[in-house]
Amino acid sequence: MLKKIMLALVLLMSAGVMVSAKSNKSKKQSGFTMWQLPMQVGNIGNSYVFRTSGGKVIVFDGGWPAEQLYLRGFIAGLGNEVEAWFISHPHDDHMGVLWQILKDPQGMKINHIYHSRFSPELVELEQPYGEYAKDFYAVLDTVSIPVTDFREPGYTGKIDDFNFKILGVVNEEFHTNPFNNSSMVMKVWDDKKSILFLADTGAESGDKLLNGPYRDDLSCDYLQVAHHGQHGCKEDFYKSIDFRACLWPSAYWIWTNDQGGGYNTGNLETFETRRWMDEIGIKEHHVSCLEGLFKLE
Ligand SMILES: [Fe+2]
Repeated sequence: MLKKIMLALVLLMSAGVMVSAKSNKSKKQSGFTMWQLPMQVGNIGNSYVFRTSGGKVIVFDGGWPAEQLYLRGFIAGLGNEVEAWFISHPHDDHMGVLWQILKDPQGMKINHIYHSRFSPELVELEQPYGEYAKDFYAVLDTVSIPVTDFREPGYTGKIDDFNFKILGVVNEEFHTNPFNNSSMVMKVWDDKKSILFLADTGAESGDKLLNGPYRDDLSCDYLQVAHHGQHGCKEDFYKSIDFRACLWPSAYWIWTNDQGGGYNTGNLETFETRRWMDEIGIKEHHVSCLEGLFKLE
């Protein structure tokens, strides 16, 4: 009888432990919402918006100049005030909307801009993009908004419950694929999730990240696949870090490698990246051209 009572007590206690472990898990609060914005023109803009639990709005990149109406409307719907705007690199599919908003804010308030500025020499390495970058920097130099220029990776910050860490900055040493290889790489997280934004990180800067001091920070829940899903980081990069889901800021013609000749007839490398993700075992994919607006709590 005593044995039975003891057994019942042990069962009750372990059930209690399970209940409390479960309730602890469900107590994890989302510190921010993230939206992956669908492209508004048939091209490859990169655009993410966040709203913290305290109501602050944050933007990562923002897409092409031609997408400004959509992003202006989206931000207006959230109060028309951006606490922090992060720009990964000055290609116009990333900085284009901010570039236009700085010229003509139309009532939008931006409180802080974060980026990693290219040297004049680096800017000259790609044309016509260098000209767009020069104009973007010229506009940035005229506004009164505080700008933080990250010269070294490792900086961490917190906006309400939105935590961020800069893992990669401008890499002046790479003269192949120079703009993409100087993408600012950022990890963001709250208690519930973490997201790694690779922007257009290339093979060389991917290697640098993997062999650098912040390698352990690269693992995440959600990974923004580099360079819109193709010709970005190498296979080895993706297979060396842990993640469980992919964010694809990819146009349909990139996703299907169709440059006009039909399904998978182009010279893009998207299907290689897709195969690597299958081999890794990733089942959750958020592809902007297929899903439209994706909201993550
Ligand atoms: Fe891009």
